[in-house]
Amino acid sequence: MSSTSRSPHPGDCSVPVHVAIIMDGNGRWAREKGLPRHEGHRAGMKAVREAVEGAVESGVEILTLFAFSTENWQRPPDEISALMTLLQLYAEREGSELKEKGVEVRVLGERSRLAPGARAAVERIEDSTRGGEALQLNLMISYSGRAEIVRAVRTLARRVASGELDPDEVEASHVEGALYTTGLPDPDLLIRSSGELRLSNFMLWQLAYTEIHIAPVLWPDFTRKDFQRAVQEFDSRERRFGRVVSST
Ligand code: FPP
Repeated sequence: MSSTSRSPHPGDCSVPVHVAIIMDGNGRWAREKGLPRHEGHRAGMKAVREAVEGAVESGVEILTLFAFSTENWQRPPDEISALMTLLQLYAEREGSELKEKGVEVRVLGERSRLAPGARAAVERIEDSTRGGEALQLNLMISYSGRAEIVRAVRTLARRVASGELDPDEVEASHVEGALYTTGLPDPDLLIRSSGELRLSNFMLWQLAYTEIHIAPVLWPDFTRKDFQRAVQEFDSRERRFGRVVSST
């Protein structure tokens, strides 16, 4: 598992190293079936397994899932509580299988805001899967792109105030070093399910040159085939990173 930032190279794509997913459509899936919203989230947990399988099978090294946004704290208390319970269940039930597959789990975001049971469970799964080499699975929880950037600015402001950092020498690498994703390459591919065309405050810094794939299915219906389709489509993209690709 590589943990160093890579500089982007323009040209043809092959297998993306880092795939990020906005898992959207749980609520609509439940509504279509006349079920409460939390049933949509429960069904969404199955799709998380599919995405992990798809990533391992495709040879992707890092999979980052948007599991709970900072804005999601404004949802009704029973939905928040259902999401915390599901997260805890996922961490409790999947640990040994993920470890067997060589999946290393990390939780990125404001973990101090998580319900105590969910927090303890995700910390246990982080410990038990540490060192897995097949895939790094990042669960973004109580996370938003703007909040992450504000947190990074505060970190850098403290370093400037203490005299450790000269404001005129602040560079992109300093900001990257203060993000939750420090040390990871930016996502090559972003998948969003349910057909919506929005970033929804997700990885605003890291997605600068990321290719986007919109999957037309609601998240609970997302399968490893949808993941593989996105990866195959990525293979046909030409990435330029704002530059010109030589045609010779
Ligand atoms: C967006 O659908 C999805 C979420 C807010 C939560 C995602 C959670 C899961 C997939 C289940 C648990 C995850 C893990 C990692 C164990 P939405 O509710 O906004 O759907 P809608 O737009 O149709 O209302």
